[in-house]
Amino acid sequence: MDIIRTVEWMKQVARAARSEGRILGFVPTMGALHEGHLSLVRAAQLQCRPVVVSIFVNPIQFGPGEDFERYPRQFERDCALLESLAVDYLFAPEAGELYPAGFRTYVHVEGLSERLEGRSRPGHFRGVATVVLKLLEIVQPTFAYFGRKDAQQARIVRQMVADLNLDTQIQVSPIVREPDGLAMSSRNAYLQGAERQAATALFRALTAARREIEAGERDALRLVAAMRAVLDREPLVATDYAEIVDADTFEPVLRLRSTCLALVAAFVGNTRLIDNMVIGPVDDELKVEI
Ligand code: PAJ
Repeated sequence: MDIIRTVEWMKQVARAARSEGRILGFVPTMGALHEGHLSLVRAAQLQCRPVVVSIFVNPIQFGPGEDFERYPRQFERDCALLESLAVDYLFAPEAGELYPAGFRTYVHVEGLSERLEGRSRPGHFRGVATVVLKLLEIVQPTFAYFGRKDAQQARIVRQMVADLNLDTQIQVSPIVREPDGLAMSSRNAYLQGAERQAATALFRALTAARREIEAGERDALRLVAAMRAVLDREPLVATDYAEIVDADTFEPVLRLRSTCLALVAAFVGNTRLIDNMVIGPVDDELKVEI
């Protein structure tokens, strides 16, 4: 695996692959890799060669008081994992390489960026959209891979790619979970002692909503109440939001009809976690994918 540190070198490598007619796959990450990330790498390897993975803890998507400084950085371990999967290129620039002095241009995807994660983390999606656009411009992949774990992020990236006519197709993979249901996340490493067990409340809240849906419930407010009840029962958990939104607009719905997402965000101790499930109509029935 080649480790690429500069934008120019990354552009050159990607340009060479494209000129040979190869299908380039790209998996952007912030490192501290886990099975969720690796599932994206495997999905990329099924469709593409070469596969480029990026590791970049993007400072501009963290708000003041968030965890940028203490975000887990495990470069050696990440490299070994990517080597073991036979990834072709790792793009790991320093912050100054992507944001040199005088950097002034930011991307804002209107409407989708203000609610839910955007409301709790002002400026977060501006930072995400900006770095993802830069990375897509540098690598110019045929396919780029994102996880449904960050469903709103994936929706915003899709919108940006469409609006800016980028030549990359965005692929979204399912959520990879721990055996007890906790969605894998680099931030799970922050969970101390009893918090780890309490963190399963997000998954349990979604599961409770799923049970209600399977029993015939279609009223979104009742489903939200069911999710909140599970979260509120857990003393170490402070709910940020529990909502059911249209999967396309991310606006709240009153009844389940079109494809929807149930989304939860909560603090477990000081650690902020998110999770979601898809609720989609299939042959007159509602199918739930957690
Ligand atoms: P990061 O949190 O490292 O996640 C990188 C990718 O892995 C994202 O697309 C995310 O949705 C996916 N992912 C994380 N946990 C997952 C899980 N349990 N199952 C499936 N996929 C999972 O998301 C970011 O980094 C950044 O915002 C980034 C897009 C790299 C821009 O800085």
